[in-house]
Amino acid sequence: MLNGKKSLFSGMQATGTLQLGNYLGALKNWVELEDEYETFYCVVDMHSITVRQEPAELRRKARALLTLYIAAGLNPEKNCIYYQSHVPAHAELNWILNCFTYMGELNRMTQFKDKASKNEENINAGLFTYPVLMAADILLFQSDIVPVGDDQKQHIEITRDIAQRFNSIYGDVFTIPEPYIKKTGARIMSLQDPTSKMSKSDENENASIYLLDDTDTIIRKFKRAVTDSDSEIRHSKDKPGISNLIEIYGIATGKSIAETEKEFEGKGYGDFKLAVGEAVATMLKPIQDRFDDLNKDKAYIDGIIKNNAEKAAYFANKTLRKVQKKIGFPEKIK
Ligand code: TYM
Repeated sequence: MLNGKKSLFSGMQATGTLQLGNYLGALKNWVELEDEYETFYCVVDMHSITVRQEPAELRRKARALLTLYIAAGLNPEKNCIYYQSHVPAHAELNWILNCFTYMGELNRMTQFKDKASKNEENINAGLFTYPVLMAADILLFQSDIVPVGDDQKQHIEITRDIAQRFNSIYGDVFTIPEPYIKKTGARIMSLQDPTSKMSKSDENENASIYLLDDTDTIIRKFKRAVTDSDSEIRHSKDKPGISNLIEIYGIATGKSIAETEKEFEGKGYGDFKLAVGEAVATMLKPIQDRFDDLNKDKAYIDGIIKNNAEKAAYFANKTLRKVQKKIGFPEKIK
């Protein structure tokens, strides 16, 4: 809760071009929450440097991501959209929470194990304590919910554990957040390997639909999507490729699984893949157009960056000061 209103925080890494999973699992759902919640949507550029980044590229991607948040429908008047690195309270609370997090807990994080195995030459301490910075992000804003895809569930659980541990020592300082994960779209799978999730960092470009892919590219990638050998369009555990496409089609068109199965009864994979490609391209086109328009207005985006960082800092500092006082840091002399 913030100022008597329920609040939420979520964010995305600026490490690549957003893919369809980021949109369907998170961003698309964010847009529905702006009236009920005080919302904070962050470009988590501090998390991004846990993997080596080229500076000019990071800056460019961070700005593109912030612009895409707005292009996807987040109204910057109603949602606080900002860069994590512009609000130092994230780093300050991160340090404090590090001292309330156990190595054993961090060792159990599947995302750390996964990322460490992919970056063997750079398993840095930031990669290890990544979830603590996430906890700081979420707890700074007294978030009631955290709208994310399925892969972030474990990170919300550790956030809750850290918050509960802190509260049990110092009283009710933090709101304990709940994950907000939709049933459909929470785990969009790779188009090339439907047993692993779609990911920005996948080296195979055909595995992901990027939000800024043009219509032809989107249709081509869906046509090439890996599916099983029979030809029935049916949602089932033993048909992960087709099930993934049915789910994507359902979100893009608003149709249920049963409706989709009925629509394509007796039709082949080719027809279905083309229909999915067209539906996704139609869904993304307005976002792409708006993205192009927004990029023409530098001053408008700059204004949002400045004002929202100030708003985020105001609320974040309130929580930070409360925490500092509770743990016994000396008060500043005014
Ligand atoms: P990131 O940047 O990897 O992903 C951003 C959001 O997209 C969701 N997502 C997916 N959803 C469905 N299917 C997929 N294939 C898929 N891939 C990604 C993610 O679940 C996420 O919601 N650690 C976070 C960023 C972060 C954060 C936070 C999130 C930093 N601090 C605080 C919430 C709260 C991350 O790397 O997300």
